[in-house]
Amino acid sequence: MKKNILLLPCLLLFIQCSAPVKKKETLTPQGADAYILAKAERADHQSATATGTHYAVSTQGIFSTQAAKTIFAQNGNIIDAAVAVSFAIAVERPHSTGLGGGGFMLYREGKTKRTYAIDFRERAPLLSTEKMFLKEDGNPDSNLSQNGILSVGVPGMVAGLIDIHARFGKLPLVKVMAPAIALAENGFAVYPNFKKALDNKAELLKKDPAAREIFLDAKGNPWPMGHMLIQKDLARTLRRIAKNGKKVFYKGEIGEALVKFSADHKGLLSKKDLLDYQVKWREPVKGNYKGYEIFSMPPPSSGGIHVVQFLNQLENDNLKEKGLLSTTSINLAAQSLQAAFADRAEYLGDPDFVNVPTKGLTDKEYAARRRKEFYETTARPSQTVGHGFVVPPHESTQTTHFSIMDYQGNAVASTQTINGQMGASMVVPHTGIVLNNEMNDFSAKPGASNLFGAIGSNANAIVPKKTPLSSMSPTIVMKDGLPKLAIGAPGGTRIISCVAQSILNYIEFNVPLYESITMIRYHHQWLPDVLDIDPPGPRPEVLKDLERMGYKVQIREVPCSVMAVARENKMLNAASDPRDIGTSAAN
Ligand code: DON
Repeated sequence: MKKNILLLPCLLLFIQCSAPVKKKETLTPQGADAYILAKAERADHQSATATGTHYAVSTQGIFSTQAAKTIFAQNGNIIDAAVAVSFAIAVERPHSTGLGGGGFMLYREGKTKRTYAIDFRERAPLLSTEKMFLKEDGNPDSNLSQNGILSVGVPGMVAGLIDIHARFGKLPLVKVMAPAIALAENGFAVYPNFKKALDNKAELLKKDPAAREIFLDAKGNPWPMGHMLIQKDLARTLRRIAKNGKKVFYKGEIGEALVKFSADHKGLLSKKDLLDYQVKWREPVKGNYKGYEIFSMPPPSSGGIHVVQFLNQLENDNLKEKGLLSTTSINLAAQSLQAAFADRAEYLGDPDFVNVPTKGLTDKEYAARRRKEFYETTARPSQTVGHGFVVPPHESTQTTHFSIMDYQGNAVASTQTINGQMGASMVVPHTGIVLNNEMNDFSAKPGASNLFGAIGSNANAIVPKKTPLSSMSPTIVMKDGLPKLAIGAPGGTRIISCVAQSILNYIEFNVPLYESITMIRYHHQWLPDVLDIDPPGPRPEVLKDLERMGYKVQIREVPCSVMAVARENKMLNAASDPRDIGTSAAN
């Protein structure tokens, strides 16, 4: 573990670091220095990459990857493994996800050749109102929408995981949940990313007695690195769910505890919110890029639409010839993101409440029109970028990700979250459940930005039962009828940039899987008009060029941890972003 701690800063400043650096010049004719080349050195039981023929898995945890291994060893199928990972990661990353949150899963079923997009994200409570996060002066109160009980959406995680398991799982739920229960009971050592979240949120956690008891010591300080975090209440909650299924959460004691806790804090969650909660089975967003088929998450995520739009807009540019992380490639890709994010702000919201022009936004001809607006030799100031005009639809928009593939042509990509670090920083007493602050993903008013600076319109206004707009982009790329790549990431709005760029690295630039997800990334979300580039930034001459072209470049982390698995020849390869404790396994 210690080595990892030392290695993290090294990864981001790899040029100066003495960590082992493995050069692969042959792969990067135009940008050898653009790779993050150091493979994370890990303790014996973890690995950033893995190769096998039976399955490959990449999660943002150590024990969560181990949970998948355990389930496959017991002859479980890919869904058993995915559900086991989901419950285990809820224990291992209580700052990122958990039973108080929600998520999306993309599942490609090999035998039927169907791809499911499953939405178990939080919904707005029945008592929520459009202006609930506005202060008297009409401006948004970000504290209200980010911290405390009003920021909590109706959790969907338990319903989603149980429904998915009931439909596709093979092993009994008790077996699938056993690794998570054991982890909650036996504990794990506090690790750097978790410690950082505890440090950031200590003041808020201190105010909530149940959160304080779990995450802080007697003096109210965050547990130190290496402290064994045991979550007894969460273990009991998990055991109850393993035994009784989702009804104990939505109709039983756990739900009652949640509703009471909400009422005690003048929150909005009601019994009816829980009774009404429905998992939504949606049609994935589809696209294609140079012979690859892309399946991704549809609205209420914006992610899938914009990953497809980003690729469409660049498809005819032959970026490979222009060079990986070259000035031209970054310029065009940044403008591709700018255009996508301007559309996001205008059009995207929950498709059950607003008409989202998915077809129009993912259309090749629309992409070609948008592409014509790009500036070739200078940056395009964001005030000159508007949303595009698409044909209205005829028919009726801290986190974690894991990816799994198996030998039967099945693939899972799932992104799950409680939103911000530690969510609402509140724990339902005696349950160990950390509550989400997903209500912050709504637009408090048109033009107001959320925690990630994302702007929204009326399409993303708060309405009871509506789902807040997301950027989560679990994606499966197909080639010749088989899953080629399953990929996704946490990181708020950056998710779209990180997933889209990793796909581009892999299928356009032919960069190997691990390097595709670890290399320097850039992010532009239209507003603010800033181009973020991972430290240490691109080659100095590229940086100079970009600045001369008018980009306001900020060399700062584009904070996503990408988790990917790929089928390459007959092998299944997994790769985890070493920016965190992501771990891969395969057999
Ligand atoms: O759904 C979304 O887009 C956000 N709630 C995701 C939050 C996230 O990725 C935080 N992570 N770093």
